[in-house]
Amino acid sequence: MTTQRESWSARSGFILAAVGSAVGLGNIWRFPYTAYENGGGAFFIPYLIALATAGFPLLFLDYVVGQKYKGAPPTAYRRMVKSAESVGWWQVLVCSVIGVYYASVLAWAGQYTLYAFNQSWGTDTGKFFEAEFLQAGSGLDFTIVPHLLMGVVVVWAIVLFIMYGGVRKGVELVNKICIPLLIVMFGIMVVKAISLEGASVGLNAFFTPDWARMADPKVWLAAYGHVFFSLSIGFGIMVTYSSYLNKNANLTGSGLVVGFANSSFEVLAGIGIFAVLGFMAAATNVPVQEVAKGGPGLAFVAFPQIISTMGNAGTIIGVLFFGSLFAAGLTSMASIVQVPISAMKDKFGWSHKKSVTVVGGVLAVISVILFSTKSAITFVDVFDYFANNIGIVLGAILSIIWVTWFNRPIMEKLVNHINAISSFKVGTIWVFMLTVITPISLIVTLGLSLQSLLKDGYGGYPVMVQMVFGWGVVALFAIGSFILTKAPAHASHHELNKE
Ligand code: ALA
Repeated sequence: MTTQRESWSARSGFILAAVGSAVGLGNIWRFPYTAYENGGGAFFIPYLIALATAGFPLLFLDYVVGQKYKGAPPTAYRRMVKSAESVGWWQVLVCSVIGVYYASVLAWAGQYTLYAFNQSWGTDTGKFFEAEFLQAGSGLDFTIVPHLLMGVVVVWAIVLFIMYGGVRKGVELVNKICIPLLIVMFGIMVVKAISLEGASVGLNAFFTPDWARMADPKVWLAAYGHVFFSLSIGFGIMVTYSSYLNKNANLTGSGLVVGFANSSFEVLAGIGIFAVLGFMAAATNVPVQEVAKGGPGLAFVAFPQIISTMGNAGTIIGVLFFGSLFAAGLTSMASIVQVPISAMKDKFGWSHKKSVTVVGGVLAVISVILFSTKSAITFVDVFDYFANNIGIVLGAILSIIWVTWFNRPIMEKLVNHINAISSFKVGTIWVFMLTVITPISLIVTLGLSLQSLLKDGYGGYPVMVQMVFGWGVVALFAIGSFILTKAPAHASHHELNKE
């Protein structure tokens, strides 16, 4: 006999958790540096186009698949189209890899919140981040950095504690605490940032499209790669979250709220960071694009730098900024870890406790081993790039093609299902977007990523690092999903439970 599937306490609980999942490190840490590296304002239009042509169509697909077939991706996909289970496992594995490095950046955010109280980063914040905090050297270095080790361990302890609480008493509760906190903290921070002298210079850089830069396929690639990560789609999260919805929940209405909340937050974060960059540009008399190095370090270098020029007033901005980053990241982290936990429960009939202990334990150990070392930032960057640009994009393509191209009658069922329970109806536009525009744009995106990776590799890292931690991870998605699909399942995995 299977136990009753958990559920959200109400639709508002789901929306809150879905917003909490979407709004995360992606919005505050990743978006600004991705925008920064892709020409600032030049990024804005591809981002919006990616959102309309791929983000929203896929968000609705994830919702309906999870809610209608009541399972984490492998089980939900299998119940929909028997042969599609492996696509579900691919997504679960991508999500697990994201969780492994996400914990690391979350730990940095937590530690920087503490540093902000007395601005322990000193005046040369770039040097502090690289040489003292990360102690990053060149090449691979597995030497343990004790404070990084402590940070990752504490983050995993908090995350596992939340996950043991289950959907309502763990995930939903942490969102009820963190989201209001996040809105207040981040709101104050952005208002403070835009009142800085020189902020308008940064905002101009952010909002002025650079049309020439838009001819660069890499900018488009970055936009598509980012949208999925940011909306938490294409790697199992929204499928899993919506599997805990009741059968009459308004799907598209929820999706629109979540999508707009996520983008508003992202743009707000862009405004906050670019205002700060503008301030630095004005203070140092250098163009906005050159005031800071890009890359994953941007938030951890640019923000502290401005804070240290502001004296005591900066302390408030620092605590608010890094505190927001931590709160936003924690709710997303919970959603990421929920995916493999639910997937194992659904397929193998494991108890909740067993699944949290085994899945959470394995991910935590891998995360601690890799991210307490001097090569932490290299692993973050390489994992993030391959998981997003290959893992998520390919997973999304496979799910769309499998479902919509080879199983056309399914599309009709999904449309009818959505429309029977949702306020915002979908029809030919959604179907056209999902079956034609989204896959084409994703296939082009993937093709361009592969071409650039095969030609130039990624990020100038040693070939060995790219092979093991980049391509190796992609191979893990493929082999792992094959093995997990073949593994013998609990009976309930095959049939939709009658509830
Ligand atoms: N959607 C989450 C984020 O943006 C994963 O961080």
